[in-house]
Amino acid sequence: MFQSARFSLIELDTDRLLESLASEVRAGLTAIPKRIPCRFFYDEVGSQIFEEICELPEYYLTRAESEILRDHAEDVARRYSLPILLVELGSGSSTKTRLLIEALLREHGALSYVPVDISPSALEASALQLLDDYKRLEVRAIAGEYQDGLRRIRRDTQRPKLILWLGSSIGNLDRQSTERFVSNLRGGMNLQDRLLLGIDLRKDREMLESAYDDSSGVTARFNRNLLERINRELGGQFDSETFDFHAAYDEVGGRVVSHLRSRREQTVRIEDLDLDVEFAASETIHTENAFKYSPTEIDALARCTGFALEEHWLDTQNRYSVNLFAPISPIGAPISPG
Ligand SMILES: C[S@@+](CC[C@H](N)C(=O)[O-])C[C@H]1O[C@@H](n2cnc3c(N)ncnc32)[C@H](O)[C@@H]1O
Repeated sequence: MFQSARFSLIELDTDRLLESLASEVRAGLTAIPKRIPCRFFYDEVGSQIFEEICELPEYYLTRAESEILRDHAEDVARRYSLPILLVELGSGSSTKTRLLIEALLREHGALSYVPVDISPSALEASALQLLDDYKRLEVRAIAGEYQDGLRRIRRDTQRPKLILWLGSSIGNLDRQSTERFVSNLRGGMNLQDRLLLGIDLRKDREMLESAYDDSSGVTARFNRNLLERINRELGGQFDSETFDFHAAYDEVGGRVVSHLRSRREQTVRIEDLDLDVEFAASETIHTENAFKYSPTEIDALARCTGFALEEHWLDTQNRYSVNLFAPISPIGAPISPG
């Protein structure tokens, strides 16, 4: 752990992450159909490509979420009368978080921020930049998985907390796992805490498919980086250019499903796993689900996980939502933040 008066960084257990990459790649590439979990998108290269995605004209999610946060950050900050602990799951570059950090600093003068991210390079770079830009901010960064963040949330019972989960990252979990995860979050929260969730909405196929398969091929590069990461970290011999990228909206399931597809029959050696992976021509690797929600589904999610939906804010084009979940006690309504 690196530490100074305003900054600490709990470093990633890189051996554990490599073991987890190795075991998931072995399990996923020997399964039918083949799959690789999307959390492995985010190494240093992947996090940089994700920042490019956020700038794409087709990727409306980031702009819509920024618009909502710009309009409502003050409102969120004013709900707390005392300095709070701001926790963020999957913080990435923390760019949009700045809107909340600034509002909270204006309201309380000081703020403690706990960003949690599986990508240490993105986490360190953004934490150091934030410390430089905001002199009254303290940053306690955790390079690790969401679960590491959840443990931290459970430990801090003193200050009121605001937990952020932005970028519609919630959509990467299937609906059942989301319910379990959000219930788990609720278990570590007190009645005056709040959970702020960025959730993308169900909408027409065309807008969704172009957001997840952009015309300049940046998202394709983001997906191919998974194979290149296996080459770098596990001695893989993928030629990533022999895989096409494809994203399609499953309207009934309300999810965008992404795949890499082998252009030809081929066998790929992964040296460190002592594994030869065989691909038929057109065989796919599932890389990501991005579940979308209707306002009714968001309300139902809040209710079944121990929350009330205190606010449901939309961008001006009604494409995206930011939701304030307030814990309810088993017998009653939420209480206002500290
Ligand atoms: C879709 S990006 C969103 C980034 C940022 N919050 C935003 O809204 O632009 C997801 C972020 O979560 C991180 N992440 C993904 N899976 C994770 C996991 N299981 N545990 C911790 N962080 C994770 C990634 O490294 C990435 O920074």
